[in-house]
Amino acid sequence: MANVPCIPDFSDAMDVDGTHVTIRPIEPADRDRESAFVRKLSDASRYYRFHSSMKELTPALLERFTECHYPDDLALVAMVDTASGPEQIGVARYIREPGTDRAEIAIVVADAWQGKGIATRLLYDLRDLARSGGIHQLYASVLRENGRMLDLCRKLGFSLERADTEPRTSQLGKQLPPLGEDSQ
Ligand SMILES: CC(C)(COP(=O)(O)OP(=O)(O)OC[C@H]1O[C@@H](n2cnc3c(N)ncnc32)[C@H](O)[C@@H]1OP(=O)(O)O)[C@@H](O)C(=O)NCCC(=O)NCCS
Repeated sequence: MANVPCIPDFSDAMDVDGTHVTIRPIEPADRDRESAFVRKLSDASRYYRFHSSMKELTPALLERFTECHYPDDLALVAMVDTASGPEQIGVARYIREPGTDRAEIAIVVADAWQGKGIATRLLYDLRDLARSGGIHQLYASVLRENGRMLDLCRKLGFSLERADTEPRTSQLGKQLPPLGEDSQ
């Protein structure tokens, strides 16, 4: 039953420069929003996220990215309301290494919304849900020139695990303390 979609009951919210930002698990109905979000990212942000010059998600990736199978994988989206409906402005996800308590994380925030604390909140929420789902170790593969993500990882207590076999990236990891032992 490992591949049956499962979405945890979770929501969070934050105020960003007077705008209400909602955080919740992604769902299949977000397909068009996720697609538009990735298409509108700057080339640099897409490159830092996907480590390639890919311009948009393939239908297969879109399907994979909008289906959660919690606790084995989960994506949280940050959404704002606009005149034309809800718009996605960020997404953070983890994917468990099969059969382990380790998971890889990845995150991207829309360019206009970067530097406002959205990634920090998404990753704290993701960490808490990962931990509740039995994950005890998180790691990220980060391009070595991606100073913002390296800074963010250090701020969240990740440390260098190893230079990846892929020469462009470094792997940073964090052992998660038991639930309730850290509030940030
Ligand atoms: C890395 C990224 C996710 C950070 O998102 P964000 O919402 O801007 O992050 P936050 O506002 O929560 O900031 C977190 C930390 O990132 C760093 N940071 C964020 N914006 C920064 C900026 N404009 N200049 C320098 N450092 C910055 C700081 O260390 C900051 O900590 P602080 O708030 O204590 O100063 C975002 O820049 C992004 O989407 N980049 C492109 C995709 C990417 O690199 N993904 C990572 C692949 S694993």
